[in-house]
Amino acid sequence: MERGSTVNKEKDYAEVTDCFSHALEISLSNTKKVENEDEDEEGSDGEDEEDKSGLDLAWKMLDVSRAIWEKEPDYTIEKINILSVLAEVALEGEIQNEGMAVLLKVVAAALNPVDYKRRHGYFKATDSPLPIVPGYDVAGVVVKVGSEVKGLKEGDEVYGDVNEKALDGPKQFGTLAEYVAVEERLLALKPKNMDFVEAAALPLAIETAYEGLERADFKEGQSILVLNGAGGVGSFVIQLAKHVFGASKVAATSSTTKLELLESLGADIAIDYTKENFEELPDKYDVVYDAIGQVEKAVKVVKEGGSVVSIVSITTSIPPPGFSFVLTSNGSILTKLSPYLESGKVKPILDPKTPFSFENVKEAYTYLESHRAMGKIVIYPMP
Ligand SMILES: NC(=O)c1ccc[n+]([C@@H]2O[C@H](COP(=O)([O-])OP(=O)(O)OC[C@H]3O[C@@H](n4cnc5c(N)ncnc54)[C@H](OP(=O)(O)O)[C@@H]3O)[C@@H](O)[C@H]2O)c1
Repeated sequence: MERGSTVNKEKDYAEVTDCFSHALEISLSNTKKVENEDEDEEGSDGEDEEDKSGLDLAWKMLDVSRAIWEKEPDYTIEKINILSVLAEVALEGEIQNEGMAVLLKVVAAALNPVDYKRRHGYFKATDSPLPIVPGYDVAGVVVKVGSEVKGLKEGDEVYGDVNEKALDGPKQFGTLAEYVAVEERLLALKPKNMDFVEAAALPLAIETAYEGLERADFKEGQSILVLNGAGGVGSFVIQLAKHVFGASKVAATSSTTKLELLESLGADIAIDYTKENFEELPDKYDVVYDAIGQVEKAVKVVKEGGSVVSIVSITTSIPPPGFSFVLTSNGSILTKLSPYLESGKVKPILDPKTPFSFENVKEAYTYLESHRAMGKIVIYPMP
């Protein structure tokens, strides 16, 4: 079935339910294998119970897809995916198989533009198979620990971006769910001063901001221009450049109503893109961080020997000295930044509409796609 297409007759419905059944078969066989091993050790006899819980779950999942189908015949496959939250058995299987992962009870999950782009099928060539539970960012509580996990234990409050490679095989069971399985190396302990909503707003965006500054070799005393300073990533680039890397001058662009925010984050110069073209202003910068897709203009305002880092133009050719990259999620960046987060020097910006409850996840996606959010969109509470 084409992603983005409308699910519109019994054939498609059958495909959706087949997907659920297939995922369950795999996960049940994993779980049974592990549990049988446990039984051998303990000499217990719990097979009937396992079968029952597996079947219950299977029926629940099928009921969910059937209910959605009957209620909203125009549901797209992506919308069904958003609501497929009953993957606990599959996740437990993942933990036992990999050993490196923990199972998290999701408390809050944040959205990023990659979520809506993925939903439109932009990355379908490298995406995981349907059915997909979307979501990259999470803050939650560890409820189960794999055998190889060294630094986390049950009850730890953690956060992270669960997909090491954003576009290359992101997890089939993501964070818009009750539970998610995550490799330990992608997580960090939640900053003590933050609640789960604030922590969920950090990982993908702040890690991208940090990796981009490092790749651009941004140094203390240098100047930087941030294009889209009020977005999820840009709001962190401004703060990190100023308060962590020690920038001498930070400039950033946004529309009129968000200029004050840019200044409050540490921008020395706030440029209103509705009134001025940054490329026509006299200032030049050591680094330009493009978080909007204006790399052609950006290269006009970079100093000789400087660099332009773009996180948007990842498939187009970029004129020198520009380059682009896609984030590699890494919990150690979060740990490194922990002192700045816990001291309040660097903080997440939550859009005024945040949080959206899980029931309103569709509205949250629509808002995300409007490209008007100021800072981050977080989903809370979760089911
Ligand atoms: N390569 C990677 O690894 C990577 C990682 C993360 C994100 N990304 C990409 O980076 C982009 C930004 O992500 P994000 O999470 O920061 O986005 P975002 O939070 O959705 O950005 C929303 C902001 O964009 C601003 N904006 C819209 N048009 C603008 C313009 N012409 N100039 C300046 N600002 C403008 C809006 O402010 P106004 O209302 O003031 O216009 C709004 O505050 C997305 O395309 C995302 O997919 C890539």
